[in-house]
Amino acid sequence: MTKTALISGITGQDGSFLAEVLLEKGYDVYGIIRRSSSFNTDRIDHLYQDPHEKGTRLRLLYGDLNDSSSLNTILRQVQPDEIYNLGAQSHVRVSFDIPEYTGEVTGLGAVRFLEAIRETGIKPRFYQASSSELFGNAFETPQTEATPFHPRSPYGCAKAYAYYITVNYRESYGLFASNGILFNHESERRGETFVSRKITRAATRIKLGLQDKLYMGNLDARRDWGYARDYVEAMWLIMNADEPDDYVVATGETHSVREFLEKTFGYLDLDWEKYVEIDPRYFRPAEVDLLLGDASKVRRQLGWEPKVTFDGLVKLMTDYDLQLAKQEAEARELKHTSTTNKARWGSM
Ligand code: NAP
Ligand code: GDD
Repeated sequence: MTKTALISGITGQDGSFLAEVLLEKGYDVYGIIRRSSSFNTDRIDHLYQDPHEKGTRLRLLYGDLNDSSSLNTILRQVQPDEIYNLGAQSHVRVSFDIPEYTGEVTGLGAVRFLEAIRETGIKPRFYQASSSELFGNAFETPQTEATPFHPRSPYGCAKAYAYYITVNYRESYGLFASNGILFNHESERRGETFVSRKITRAATRIKLGLQDKLYMGNLDARRDWGYARDYVEAMWLIMNADEPDDYVVATGETHSVREFLEKTFGYLDLDWEKYVEIDPRYFRPAEVDLLLGDASKVRRQLGWEPKVTFDGLVKLMTDYDLQLAKQEAEARELKHTSTTNKARWGSM
């Protein structure tokens, strides 16, 4: 029988890859989108078909993690077999500027979903997008499912609430509710204010003369960076395990932001030190210095393996952004030519 999945955060990096993977696996997929003043479905436009067309398997519904009634209505309407709660205010630095809002969406959003499940009596499986930010100022390295949490930001604190409420509903009401504690994962679809994409966008624009400088924050921070497409496979495995449980998903390698700069600029034959300047605006009130995950449990129990290496990740993101930069350069050239032509015609 065809399974139905409901995804919050479908317009984000992970939501778009997950929708792709679930459609490939034969699911009917529903995504929750927020009303926005301009279109923000770029990452899923290639998957979307005319909703009036017969056989459409991806449908988008308006809702919001801050609006429980919309979640209840959607649950009744969709009757999903699986819910993936990926929606969040997901930017750590920004969470210091909007801590209360981050708590609402990233923290309480999870309990709104869980309560909707309980109230409607529908029995979907529930996946919570938990984060390595839970470990924060980590008590041990590498971090496992048993490492105590020490979040270092309003985002991390909100994710801690969402993690524990997911465990609590599993224990209290017997829900199939699991946490994937995912370490950083990036891609060509990564938001442009996260450090990996900020670097690959800037380095490729610098290469083509579209930008002179790149302003950065703490270059010493270390992260365990993987490829997002690999990580959404782990989400599906966690959701389809025999029992609900919590799993760390990581590559088991850590690299500094400085190394990310060196690799990206080096791949483009540029010396990063000539272009990068430090701007204290990008420092955080409290930093997470080192994240390194031990994903033995998900590897052993569910057979998950990351496929893309750190070098492979840098390469694929840089290649993609180089194409974008080329398009931008061509568009500028066209605009320049048309302005020059207009000026010529004007003088005739
Ligand atoms: P992302 O690109 O920032 O996407 C976030 C998604 O959440 C977007 O679709 C956004 O919609 C949606 N959203 C925001 N506020 C919402 C609200 N009030 N109601 C409903 N939806 C809302 O994040 P991502 O990188 O794909 O990450 C997916 C999830 O995994 C997030 O929960 C994140 O915190 C968590 N996570 C990410 C990583 C990582 O390294 N990427 C690691 C661990 C955990 P709009 O497009 O309308 O803004
Ligand atoms: N964004 C950003 N911009 N980060 C910078 C910069 C900069 O200019 N310069 C240095 N950094 C450092 C940050 O201080 C941080 O230590 C590191 O680069 C990574 O920053 P982000 O890419 O913004 O990601 P994050 O680790 O804070 O959070 C991401 O990963 C979490 C999982 O550990 C997000 O995707 C979270 O949603 C996710 O939970």
